[in-house]
Amino acid sequence: PDLFAPARVNSRGFDLTDPVTLARIEAARAPYAGATWAAGPLVAGEIAGGEVWTLANPARGDDRLGTLTLAAPADIETALTSARPWSAPVADRAAALNRAADLYEAEFGQIFALLAREAGKTLPDAIGELREAVDFLRYYADQAQGLTTPARGTFACISPWNFPLAIFTGQIAAALAAGNGVIAKPAEATGLIAHLAVTLLHQAGVPRDALQLLPGRGADVGAALSSDPRIAGVCFTGSTETAQAINRTMAAHLDPAAPLIAETGGLNAMVVDSTALPEQAVRDIIASAFQSAGQRCSALRILYVQEDVAAPLIEMLTGAMAELRLGDPWAISTDIGPVIDQRAKAGIAAHIETARAEGRVLAELAAPSQGTFVPPTILQLNGGIAALEREIFGPVLHIATYRAEDLEQVIADVNARGFGLTFGMHSRIDDRVQTVAAAIRVGNTYINRNQIGAVVGSQPFGGEGLSGTGPKAGGPAYLPRFTQAPAGKAHG
Ligand code: NAD
Ligand code: ALA
Repeated sequence: PDLFAPARVNSRGFDLTDPVTLARIEAARAPYAGATWAAGPLVAGEIAGGEVWTLANPARGDDRLGTLTLAAPADIETALTSARPWSAPVADRAAALNRAADLYEAEFGQIFALLAREAGKTLPDAIGELREAVDFLRYYADQAQGLTTPARGTFACISPWNFPLAIFTGQIAAALAAGNGVIAKPAEATGLIAHLAVTLLHQAGVPRDALQLLPGRGADVGAALSSDPRIAGVCFTGSTETAQAINRTMAAHLDPAAPLIAETGGLNAMVVDSTALPEQAVRDIIASAFQSAGQRCSALRILYVQEDVAAPLIEMLTGAMAELRLGDPWAISTDIGPVIDQRAKAGIAAHIETARAEGRVLAELAAPSQGTFVPPTILQLNGGIAALEREIFGPVLHIATYRAEDLEQVIADVNARGFGLTFGMHSRIDDRVQTVAAAIRVGNTYINRNQIGAVVGSQPFGGEGLSGTGPKAGGPAYLPRFTQAPAGKAHG
């Protein structure tokens, strides 16, 4: 073996500074700029079909995307009765998942178009999302070959809209790689992307009874799946409240051994001390808080700045924020797209208005007049993380200041709040960084960099406490949880 060759490689993505690459992307997306789709359930049997939704682009209400037919109760029953584990030899399963990765990459034009028009994703976010999806497919295909324990049966995979391709695919790929069957319940807002993904997985050779798709409401389809004893386990990513509801439902109806693998929300903090490099800290704060319009579970929600450097840092931050361009995510110049829908916009706006009434708005941008945009906003947070009532899932950064001698208390407060997903620290004092990193209880800690965008295989991702059950996605402990292996260290 070549000692210098990597054991496995991640998808390379695209170099957006190269005009030839940009022209290729434009040409591949162009046929889908005004296209419409008709998606619905994909079950191994006759499809009944229920309610039909017409879908629109969150950035432009006049941009119609087509229709999504929800699963009828009869489709849920068909899926459950026809579901089969994927009994093919592991090498065949891995080969099909690797083929699916190739098909995803070949379909990049349609995928980028759908990610922009259905999910509001900017081009860099869409590229990152496609890369993560194919990385999951190839990583789990590779990991499956080392499994020694049998599959469990059929998993319900219930996913959120904010990574409608990457997380949707990651859950499914893991369950399938381990030899299970899957019934996938995508988020309400992103059924078209889910439908395309399942179509490509079927084309790659995943049997139709081993992978079925049931679009629908969480309270209908999601609840029906997580309460049906024919389901051997649930893989869920979404809010902490929904995970808790699913946990209760499973406890009442499923075999007590059926696992719930849940990745949930966070109140993610970053500490910037007086030794941090301000230019680097500002760049990383902007990316962590505002990229993807703040709609990442990993996103920075509360920034603790040492009081000695707070005023100049906030001034620099405000200046850097003013450079961000909000707009249609299809445009290559756009930095920040819309939030997912009107309901999300209203919830975030209400939070900002409460802060405004209390005189706590430090800086904000203007939003485009149409679409579900929330402008990036910086709020002062009196009382620190304890005062943050809930995860605000949008481009809102809360800032608190601390005195150097209170750093230990800041870490204790963050731990006491109960979430534990990501944490960031900017400091040039190694001892301090080591002490804080050892004390903070989160899944992923990032030092002197941004705190988003974990890379499959290199940075397994997942939280502790209210942020998830573990094991971490994209890491070696994940696949065994989809088999009959005894539960190991939860956050490995
Ligand atoms: P959500 O909890 O509202 O929905 C997630 C999924 O659960 C959807 O498919 C929904 O239809 C379904 N669902 C809703 N109620 C259900 C029920 N009673 N039974 C079964 N299924 C049900 O979350 P969302 O708004 O789609 O996503 C945003 C949330 O996801 C944020 O809290 C974010 O932090 C979290 N998230 C976490 C991670 C992670 O890796 N930790 C990654 C992405 C998103
Ligand atoms: N894995 C995603 C990130 O790290 C959620 O941003």
